[in-house]
Amino acid sequence: MAKTERRKQLEAAALYPLDWVEERSGLVGYTKWFLFRKVPHDISWAQTLGAAALTAFIVQVLTGVILAMYYKPDPASAYPSVVNITENLTLGWLVRGMHKWGASVFIILLFFHMARTFLFGAYKYPRELNWIIGVLLLVSGMLEGFTGYLLPWDQTAYWATVVGINLNATAPFVGPFLAQFLQGGLNIGPDTLPKFYSLHMLLIPGLIFALIGLHLYLVVRLGVTSPPWSETAAGREREETGAREGLIRDPAVEGEV
Ligand code: HEM
Repeated sequence: MAKTERRKQLEAAALYPLDWVEERSGLVGYTKWFLFRKVPHDISWAQTLGAAALTAFIVQVLTGVILAMYYKPDPASAYPSVVNITENLTLGWLVRGMHKWGASVFIILLFFHMARTFLFGAYKYPRELNWIIGVLLLVSGMLEGFTGYLLPWDQTAYWATVVGINLNATAPFVGPFLAQFLQGGLNIGPDTLPKFYSLHMLLIPGLIFALIGLHLYLVVRLGVTSPPWSETAAGREREETGAREGLIRDPAVEGEV
């Protein structure tokens, strides 16, 4: 059905802001490149685990920002501020509960996602770099858990951190330096808490944001791997990249094709 003149005008008016942004930034094009891409026809729920981990991370960020508005990172007021969040603030118990349980959900989803990529062989050429970025994401996620665990500053938090820091201190060569850095001194004390807080809500989340950006860029650039049992295994002809010989593995030489 031909579009009426009125409808054309409405469409043009609705698209005007997008065209304005696109002309000045190219952002609309990039967003389309990111969102509207081809995936193998036989992908399944297994390939949604990465997005599930991303969702869990976003929940952690949102609830964490709210908690940071009321949490006080010094030994005298940390525990009372957490009690205040849980008992006095409207829905504080819910936000804190989501953040606390969400941390475990995030790590569990990371392991499921990693298992999926491993079992589907998605870590192989040309996705090795994305696997390495994934490993860094896993380590950063676990560091988030470690640094966040201290923040309520109760007995469990304190002694769990003592154990964690002592474990780090046993590492060869760097161990004692690492322990001293984490403690913010020779022992766990008043300087440890703000240090963990800063790592937990600034440094490590910033790192995770950057790594997720790289990770997703590579997912879009390289495409999603088909399941190993797929009859139409994904793959395109390898492009000439001009890279030095030896940097790229040649399946023909290795007898795989
Ligand atoms: C914050 C953590 C992470 C987020 C948000 C994330 C997100 C994603 C998303 C959305 C995808 C595409 C869809 C999918 O395959 O599920 C993906 C793919 C991938 N991820 Fe992750 N991921 C994370 C951590 C990890 C970890 C820990 C590993 C492994 C050590 C990993 C390795 C990979 C690989 C190899 C792919 C490519 C899969 C393929 O081509 O089929 N990721 N990731």
